[in-house]
Amino acid sequence: MSEIQIGGFRRLKGRIPVQGSKNGVLPMMAASILSDETTVITNVPAIQDVFCMMGILKFMGCGCTLRGGELTICPAELARTDLPETFVRQMRSSIVLLGAVLAREGRASTAYPGGCSIGKRPIDFHLQALRALGAEIREDGCFIRARAEHLAGAEIHFPYPSVGATENALLAAVLAEGETVICGAAREPEIEELCAFLNGMGADVRGGGTEMITVFGRKRLRGCRFRVSGDRIVAGTYLMAAMAGRGEVLLEGVKPGHLKEVIRVLKQAGAGFSLGEDAVAVRMEGPLLPVSVQTGPYPEFPTDLQSPLMGLLCCADGCSRIRETVFEGRYETAEEFKKLGARIQVREGEAVVCGRPSLSGGRVRARDLRGGAALVVAGLAAAGKTEIYDCFHIERGYEDICRDLRLAGADIRWRRQEAKEKER
Ligand code: EPZ
Repeated sequence: MSEIQIGGFRRLKGRIPVQGSKNGVLPMMAASILSDETTVITNVPAIQDVFCMMGILKFMGCGCTLRGGELTICPAELARTDLPETFVRQMRSSIVLLGAVLAREGRASTAYPGGCSIGKRPIDFHLQALRALGAEIREDGCFIRARAEHLAGAEIHFPYPSVGATENALLAAVLAEGETVICGAAREPEIEELCAFLNGMGADVRGGGTEMITVFGRKRLRGCRFRVSGDRIVAGTYLMAAMAGRGEVLLEGVKPGHLKEVIRVLKQAGAGFSLGEDAVAVRMEGPLLPVSVQTGPYPEFPTDLQSPLMGLLCCADGCSRIRETVFEGRYETAEEFKKLGARIQVREGEAVVCGRPSLSGGRVRARDLRGGAALVVAGLAAAGKTEIYDCFHIERGYEDICRDLRLAGADIRWRRQEAKEKER
């Protein structure tokens, strides 16, 4: 199993290129099967979730290769409509293949998706959207079976701006006959980019990135070539790591516009920023100040950065308040921070974090993807050695968090069973 070892506090200084977006590329991979033609996506991160989605596409008969960040998908030979349970159980975003396979083949079946244990994560909005487009869907507790002789445009109203459900609706609607209007759509940059990707395939999608998206269905789509943006959540994690290391770090390959609310909150915490077109530089000179923040759908503060922010605030000069409104199970990592000496109280859906000058090192467990990354942030500010185990969670979304942070001088390395002799 892979573990991460952090030697303790070091002032960070350096430049880190930010990997491509996990949550951007995964729905694009699903969308690529909406055509028989080959699609090429560049700036693709070599992460477990991408490998998992590649495994699903290959199982279904698609050609799929990833070399040097360039992902080539050949969907011409797609021959199955049942998604492989082992892969689906590993990753929540496999569910968006339901809409894509249904739109292409008229039927699809899948187990319920797995992924991070951060809350109940139902899929009722996904199924509501597909039914609105004309799909007949049966659930038997373990599996979902969908059929649609013919998908027809519809008006879809989401009670909550669900990212995944918006993606599923889009992937089914682009091949549905007529006009679909998605009201209450998610506005995340990943949605805006998926709409641009679909239009690159010859679809006609308007309003991506707003709460109302209109799709004019097409009979056929074509392959395309597309570069996925930098990962805003990985970038936000590294901004917080740089602040924990009281240093100055330049992140390259990320759009500051995707981090507006994050930068606003981190400025309140005492950071200074310089913004470029495709870069963000952060520097931490003064004290780390406490903040109050509430997560929410984009453009509010992202739930995926709630744990990393908590990890940073464990060493702030005062008490911070964090309210998580998206996933009810996302305070779990607080128990791990406490093993490093953090003072955190979770009461009535709100975490109160009272900082201390520094944490002590210790041995902690990554409980989910962003919680694991948050432990890295906390470990960088700790006096003494920190070991993080169950790091397979982190590898789902971070190409190489140790390599990246070492570029800024962090004392951090992998400890893997099979690669003991080779220092990463
Ligand atoms: C996407 O998950 C991201 N994953 C998550 O990132 C991210 O935290 C989340 O959006 C919110 O931004 C990917 O893009 C692969 P939602 P998703 O549907 O689509 C409820 C990471 O760390 N809901 O927007 O699953 C749901 O329970 C991951 O990279 C329903 O009730 O999120 C939650 O409370 C973690 N019914 C809220 O909506 C539904 O049918 C937001 O979920 C769907 C969702």
